[in-house]
Parts: sequence; C-alpha cells; structure tokens
Amino acid sequence: MVEVRYFSRSGNTKAIADVIASAAGVKAESADAAGVSDADILFVGGALYAGGIAGKLKKFIKTLSPEKVGCVAVFSTTANPNGAYEKIKKALDKQGLRVLEHEFHCTGGEAKSEGAAVRAEAFAKEILEENRSL
Ligand SMILES: Cc1cc2nc3c(=O)[nH]c(=O)nc-3n(C[C@H](O)[C@H](O)[C@H](O)COP(=O)(O)O)c2cc1C
Repeated sequence: MVEVRYFSRSGNTKAIADVIASAAGVKAESADAAGVSDADILFVGGALYAGGIAGKLKKFIKTLSPEKVGCVAVFSTTANPNGAYEKIKKALDKQGLRVLEHEFHCTGGEAKSEGAAVRAEAFAKEILEENRSL
C-alpha cells in the first residue's frame, strides 16, 4: 500500500504531492489532517520556512513508526536549491524509519510547472519500481 502525505502553506508542495499521488493511483492528504494507518511506501513532502520544516510536519512525523511504515520517500520544494531532504530525513530518522536516499526536489517557483510535474511523476514511478517487492 502506498500513501502520500505533505505539508504545504502556499500550495507548492501540494502540487508535487498531487502528481506523485496520481502516479501511484492514490490521493495525497495533508499531513495535518490525516495520519497513516499502514504503508509499505510512504511519500512525505515538505518545505523549509525560516530554515526549518513546519511544526505540523514534525508533529505528523512523530506519529510514524517502523511497524506502520515500510519505507519513506522524501520530496520537497524550497527556495534553496539543496531542498529540505536533510531536515525531513533527520525527523524521520528519529522515528527509526527506513528513509530512501532517492528523493525529489524542485524550487517553489518551479513546483507548479509542467517540467516539475514530469520530473515528479518519473520520481514516483522509479520509487514504486525500485520498492515493488515491499
Ligand atoms: C515565510 C517563509 C519562509 C521561508 N523560508 C525558507 C527558508 O528558510 N529556506 C528556503 O529554502 N526556502 C524558504 N521559503 C521558501 C519555501 O520553502 C518555498 O516557497 C516552498 O515551495 C513553499 O512550499 P509550500 O507552498 O508547499 O508551503 C520560505 C517561504 C516562506 C513563505
């Protein structure tokens, strides 16, 4: 089972979450609205605000455990071209989760573009293919 959760203030990360969810045949849900019941592959998306990830995303991540989540694929949108992977991964690591190295990032300005959608769809398909046995 695949699930997609994101936190998005202005819709950039949501735009990417929707593309990933569509590629996976599921619906993306906001992390502050929906928990995770059971996921073989969980896509988690976020952005940086004043150098850190949102408190609501951190709170959501604290609800996760390896018993409920097989592995996590991170996607992010930020102004910083390096993305938010390291900060999101740090929070996921604290929960003892298996975090994939393969991640997706685009800048906030790119997030709603056709180019980012094409890349995000390819990312989702690669993650699903690479972790199909889960
Ligand atoms: C108040 C605020 C603070 C931000 N701080 C950072 C930051 O510290 N580093 C960064 O790379 N981007 C920063 N950004 C840019 C956002 O990470 C970027 O616009 C992102 O795509 C927003 O995603 P969202 O629309 O899903 O909320 C900031 C944006 C806002 C509105």
